Amino acid sequence: MRIDVVSIFPEYLAPLELSLIGKARQDGLLDLAVHDLRGFTSDRHRTVDDTPYGGGAGMVMKAEPWALALESIAGEGTAAKPVLIVPSPAGERFTQAIAHQLAEEEQLVFACGRYEGIDERVIDWAREHFRVRPMSLGDYVLNGGEVAVLAMVEAVGRLLPGVVGNPESLVEESHSDGLLEYPVYTKPSEWRGREVPPVLLSGNHGKIAQWRRHEQFRRTADRRPDLLSDFDASNLPRADREVFAELGYDVVDGRLMRREGGT
Ligand code: ADE
Repeated sequence: MRIDVVSIFPEYLAPLELSLIGKARQDGLLDLAVHDLRGFTSDRHRTVDDTPYGGGAGMVMKAEPWALALESIAGEGTAAKPVLIVPSPAGERFTQAIAHQLAEEEQLVFACGRYEGIDERVIDWAREHFRVRPMSLGDYVLNGGEVAVLAMVEAVGRLLPGVVGNPESLVEESHSDGLLEYPVYTKPSEWRGREVPPVLLSGNHGKIAQWRRHEQFRRTADRRPDLLSDFDASNLPRADREVFAELGYDVVDGRLMRREGGT
C-alpha cells in the first residue's frame, strides 16, 4: 500500500518510523511519504492560511497550496482515484470496519488541516481526483489532523498482510466482532492476593472459549452498550442468551432489546 500525508508539521508524523509501522515500511509492505504543505507555496513567507470570509475567530487554510500538493500526489500514484481522507471533527466516525475497508485500497492520501480547517472549495475540487472521505476520530477536538492520522495509519497499517506477526491476534481483538475484547491475564496465577479466573487454568478449551465470550458480553454491556444494538443475536446458544438475560437483555427478532427496568 502507498500512503501520502500532507501536513505543515511533517515532523509530527515521525512516530510512523517506529514500531510495527516503521518495520512495515522497512520491509517494503508499506510505502509512506510525508509532504510539507509549505513546499507548495510560492510567496516569501510560505503562507498557508488567511482570515475567514464572513469573519469569525481563527484562520482558514488557503486553497491553492492544497490543490498543488494534492495534484502532485494524484499525478505520482498508480491508483485511478485514490481515497483522500480529511481528518476533521466534522467527519464521519472512523471505525474498525472503515479501517478494514481502507486496508484494501491501493493508495491512501491524508490531508492534515490546522487552524479552523481547509477552504471548503478544496474538498469539492478534490472529488475530481480522489474519493474524498472527511473522517473524525471521535467527538472531541484536536489541534489538527496529525494525531488523527497517526491513529488511522496505525489502525489501517496493522491490517495489511504481513504487518502483524500472528494474524490470529487480529481476529480476537476488540471490535473485530462488534464486541469489546475479553480480559487477559499472565503469570503468576496469584498476584498481590488476586487470582486468575480458575477456568483459564482448567485446560478445558471449550469452557475457556465460552467464558471469554461471556466476558465480552458483560464488558460490552457495561462499557459500550451502544455496540449491542448492532449485535446479531439470531441463533445464539442458550448459554449466551442466559448471560444476556442476566445483563438485562432479551432477544427479540434476532436483536438484543434492553428489558424495561433492567439492571
Ligand atoms: N481534527 C481535529 N479534531 C479531530 C478529530 N476529532 N478527528 C479527526 N481529526 C480532527
